[in-house]
Amino acid sequence: MRLHKPSSLFIVLGLLLCSAFAHADTAAKQPHIVILATGGTIAGSGADSTTTVGYTAATVGVQRLIDAVPELKKVAQVSGEQVMQIASENMNNAAWLELAKRVNVLLKRADVDGIVITHGTDTLEETAYFLDLVVKSSKPVVLVGAMRPSTAISADGPINLYNAVLLAATPEANGKGVLVVLNDQINAARDVSKTNTATLDTFKSSELGLLGYIQGNRAYFYRSSTRKHTRDTEFDIANLSVLPQVDIVYGYANMNRIALDAFVNAGAKGIIHAGTGDGSLATPLKTALTEARKKGILIVRASRVGQGIVARNGEADDDQLDFVVADTLNAQKARILLMLALTRTADTKEIQRMFYTY
Ligand code: DGL
Repeated sequence: MRLHKPSSLFIVLGLLLCSAFAHADTAAKQPHIVILATGGTIAGSGADSTTTVGYTAATVGVQRLIDAVPELKKVAQVSGEQVMQIASENMNNAAWLELAKRVNVLLKRADVDGIVITHGTDTLEETAYFLDLVVKSSKPVVLVGAMRPSTAISADGPINLYNAVLLAATPEANGKGVLVVLNDQINAARDVSKTNTATLDTFKSSELGLLGYIQGNRAYFYRSSTRKHTRDTEFDIANLSVLPQVDIVYGYANMNRIALDAFVNAGAKGIIHAGTGDGSLATPLKTALTEARKKGILIVRASRVGQGIVARNGEADDDQLDFVVADTLNAQKARILLMLALTRTADTKEIQRMFYTY
């Protein structure tokens, strides 16, 4: 029987089939990372390529963000959802609950290996910490933003997004809590803050330090958080449709009680006092806060300083006043923890334990 020499067409078809199977096999082996888009500068656009301030945030959709970084395919199988499209100064409790519930549903799926959330940088640290306290999984959740809009020269969004997906696809990122990636640095949700209004290196954990770096297509971890988070959390938002109202009063020289009284009259269930120094209380505020506590409002002494511990019974007799101290949490993060604490208890000893636990 004469064997016919296979035509070149069959050879080409065979090669195409092999590469298709190889590609499918690679894609099947890659982690599946879901990108949840919320808006912000990373999705922003400016009038021209030199516009790095005064641009419009939250204009570019999630699929365009993904398509702008074809290199994502090298590190993960990526899918995207546009959860919302807002400038993050407009982030709110209802949006947090919606986002957190979507994250928990997705992370329960066996075919989802991690989540990246694109977000405005203004409140990114707050969303990250809220999720750190309510995500019920050890799979990676990575928040990412940008300081320059997508239309700017040397926009930082594409590389930040690539780094965030790479990190979410890194097995070592499991169990580290919610992470924040910008500027090649990995920070923990609990400790990171936006520290500069405009520069690329704005996200820092200052004295408590970053967790690691992204370099040469790899994530490098040097530390991990000592506080509870994600899978070890006691907070559960699955059946919550609203969070208790907690507001922040900022301390300064010549302080008065006008803002505090307004929050109390508006029905606040908790007040964070961002005091001067070690959470100091100006006399008018100490009087007003004592009155508020007697009305059953939870009071947390935080500091406007930004670093260091607010010591219990330091600048005020917290035992006698029945106040809570924020430990090292800044005021905006103390507000988040107190809101969630109030979904479980009004007992100040229990709430103080939570501030020393998370
Ligand atoms: N409007 C600000 C926000 O959406 C822009 C800052 C940014 O995203 O970098 O957070």
